[in-house]
Amino acid sequence: MNAVFASRTAQADEASPPVLSVRGASKRFGSVLALAGIDISVSRGEILGLLGDNGAGKSTLIKCISGVHRFDSGSIIIDGAITTIRSPGEARFAGIETVYQDLALFDNLTPAQNFFAGREISGPQWLPRGLRFLKQRRMDAETEALLGNLKVTLPKLDAVVAMMSGGQRQAIAVARSTVFARKVVILDEPTAALGLRESRQVLDLVATLRDQGNAVILITHNMEHVIELADRAVVLRQGRKVGELVPTKDNKQELVSMIVGA
Ligand SMILES: Nc1ncnc2c1ncn2[C@@H]1O[C@H](COP(=O)(O)OP(=O)(O)OP(=O)(O)O)[C@@H](O)[C@H]1O
Ligand SMILES: [Mg+2]
Repeated sequence: MNAVFASRTAQADEASPPVLSVRGASKRFGSVLALAGIDISVSRGEILGLLGDNGAGKSTLIKCISGVHRFDSGSIIIDGAITTIRSPGEARFAGIETVYQDLALFDNLTPAQNFFAGREISGPQWLPRGLRFLKQRRMDAETEALLGNLKVTLPKLDAVVAMMSGGQRQAIAVARSTVFARKVVILDEPTAALGLRESRQVLDLVATLRDQGNAVILITHNMEHVIELADRAVVLRQGRKVGELVPTKDNKQELVSMIVGA
C-alpha cells in the first residue's frame, strides 16, 4: 500500500476530525425560519446524505456553506478553524466546490468553457489570437480526456450546454467538481430528473469524489441512492435537524418516517 492511499484510508475512519462542521446555524427569510440551530459535520473520504422533504432547508443550508447566502447566526468550521465565507469565491478558496440544484452550468458555453469558467488556463492577455486559440484547444482536449477518464460520453463536445440533455448537463457539472475539488464537495440533488443510466453515471462520479479523499455532502430525495452511497444521513424537517443515522436497507422506513414526520 502506498503512503497516499494509507493516509486516505486513515482519514476516512471514524476518529478522523471533520474537515467541515456547521454549528448552531440559523437562517430566516422574512417570516420563514428556513434553518433553526443546525449542526452537521463531514470528514474526508466520507459521504454525508442530507435529507428532508421539499422546503426542509437543505438548499438553504448548503447555499450558506457555499457563500450564496449568509447564516444569521452559527459558524462554519473548516479544518478546525472558524471560517467566514462571504461569497462563492471565498467558499471555493476555502476548498468547497458546489454543484447547485439550479444554475449548475452556463447554457451558452461549451462543456470545456464550462469546465474552465472563472479559471481559464492562465496566459497573458496580450497573447496573439492564434495562441489564444491554442489555449482553447488545450482546454477542449483536457476536458475531453477528463470526461473520457470518467466514462462520461457526450455526443458533441463543441455544442453549447443548452443543447444537451439534463443527464448530460448534470454529468458535466459533477465531472467538473471532480477536477477542482480540493476538500469538500456539495451536490444538491445531482440525480434529480435523471434516467437510470444517467443516474448511474452521476452516482459513480460521486463515489469518485469520495475516493479522491473529499468530504462529500449529497442532497437527494432518493433513498436507494442514500443507502448505496451515504456513510451517514442527516434529516432536516422545517429547518430543524430531526435525526442522524447510518442508512441501511433495514432502517429505510425509519428514515422515511423522519423525513415526513410520521
Ligand atoms: N431566497 C429565498 N427567499 C425566501 N425564502 C426562501 C429562499 N430560499 C428558500 N426559501 C424558503 O426557505 C425554506 C427552505 O427552502 P430550501 O430551498 O432550503 O428547501 P429544500 O430542502 O432545498 O427543498 P427542495 O427539496 O424542494 O429543494 C422554504 O420555505 C423556502 O420557501
Ligand atoms: Mg433544495
